[in-house]
Amino acid sequence: LWNDPGGLVNGRKASAFVTTDEIPLSVFFNIRGDIMSPEFSVLREKRPVARMITNTGDSAWYVTSYSLAAAVFQDPRFSLSRTALGGTSERDDVPFPPITVSVMKALTAAGLRGEFMRHVGPQQTAAPPRWIRQVASEAVEAMTREGHRADLVRDFALPVTLAVACRLLGFPQGDRHLLAEAVDMDVDFGAYEPAERAASWERLRRHVHERFCGGTGREESRHQAGSGLIGGLFAANRHARQREADGHASPGITPLSDTDLIDIGCMLVIGTVANPAAFLAIGGLALARHPRARRRLARDPEAMPGAVEELLRYSIMVGGGLPRVATEDVRLGEVTVRAGELVLLATDAAHRDPEAYPEPDEFDIDRPPSCPHLRFGGGRHYCPASRFSRMVAENAFGALLERLPELRLALALEELEWLPDRHVLLPRRLPVRW
Ligand code: HEM
Repeated sequence: LWNDPGGLVNGRKASAFVTTDEIPLSVFFNIRGDIMSPEFSVLREKRPVARMITNTGDSAWYVTSYSLAAAVFQDPRFSLSRTALGGTSERDDVPFPPITVSVMKALTAAGLRGEFMRHVGPQQTAAPPRWIRQVASEAVEAMTREGHRADLVRDFALPVTLAVACRLLGFPQGDRHLLAEAVDMDVDFGAYEPAERAASWERLRRHVHERFCGGTGREESRHQAGSGLIGGLFAANRHARQREADGHASPGITPLSDTDLIDIGCMLVIGTVANPAAFLAIGGLALARHPRARRRLARDPEAMPGAVEELLRYSIMVGGGLPRVATEDVRLGEVTVRAGELVLLATDAAHRDPEAYPEPDEFDIDRPPSCPHLRFGGGRHYCPASRFSRMVAENAFGALLERLPELRLALALEELEWLPDRHVLLPRRLPVRW
């Protein structure tokens, strides 16, 4: 597709070059959340559905155009649940337990969707906007007490996200570090051996069991039972099981086993920390790099919801792509995806598609509404916490810019070091000053 053998892609020596249909995914597996490699534009233009090799050595189709990625999200012939069944290509060495791949489907079948939405919908009371704002303001105050420099990952994105996650899910705040470590091992497939990652999942399972499911039975380990989203799901599920045992089962509802609900609880820990922390860090980086937008937001908080939408589009957060498996042969652009083949949706590349967004590389908080971004996915698996996540971001960025309108990067962009090999991107450190 292009002819620069020996060049650097994503700052790494490209190991192979594009002369055939087979392109090692590692070449395209994005590690930088600040700059979209120009190779993505070439790929989108020349081969918007390209053949790739995943980390496990399996083949996959890699989709970089907006219209095709959006079409796959909406097309029921591309299944997320099927990615968990054996016999298809895989994206990663440590696949999550099948029940966690389609969480809302499992919760709906168990009659728990309503309980889930009670905790993340507009009526939720555990983490109201005022509380989020206060948590973020406290993190920013702590930064300023240290001087005029801070690390936006360590001092802002992580503490705010972890405090919110504990509150939302029902963990005590003292569990923050444990959750952070578990999430780190689950989204990073490079720094840890598959066995280490599997052991980390087991540790998190035991912890969720202890906290929400009675665990050892000791009073202190059960003090969270029934609280927060995970506690609420366990309580509602126990209630449904009791009704079933009493002969009053609700038709069409099959309560979950504790084993499955624990796995779902672990997945919710990842969902509540990985993407939200990456968004506060990488969105914060965009704000630090764009003084006009930043000062305008400090002056005019009304502009924040529009700015958060643009940050959701503009931020680069996905390492590989969101996976789907074709359930039958489907024509996609100029290729035919065969039944059983894996498709990876590179939503960040889609967000920089000029066909969907004029001047896609510009960060413009007044961008007129055009195509809806794909940051929360699309179709059947659209993130159920999108509204909650927007509210968290508006309040967290609001608190940051209210106090630090002159926030800027404390080093050159090229000097930022990104953690390699992650499904959800994150810089190792994000030094800022003001
Ligand atoms: C900035 C924050 C967030 C982003 C960018 C984000 C992104 C996404 C995306 C892209 C998907 C769809 C995945 C796919 O289609 O393959 C998704 C699904 C999901 N998200 Fe989020 N998410 C965020 C926050 C949260 C939070 C706070 C929760 C906590 C409850 C959450 C829970 C879920 C769940 C349960 C699903 C699965 C939906 C299903 O089973 O169909 N997310 N999220």
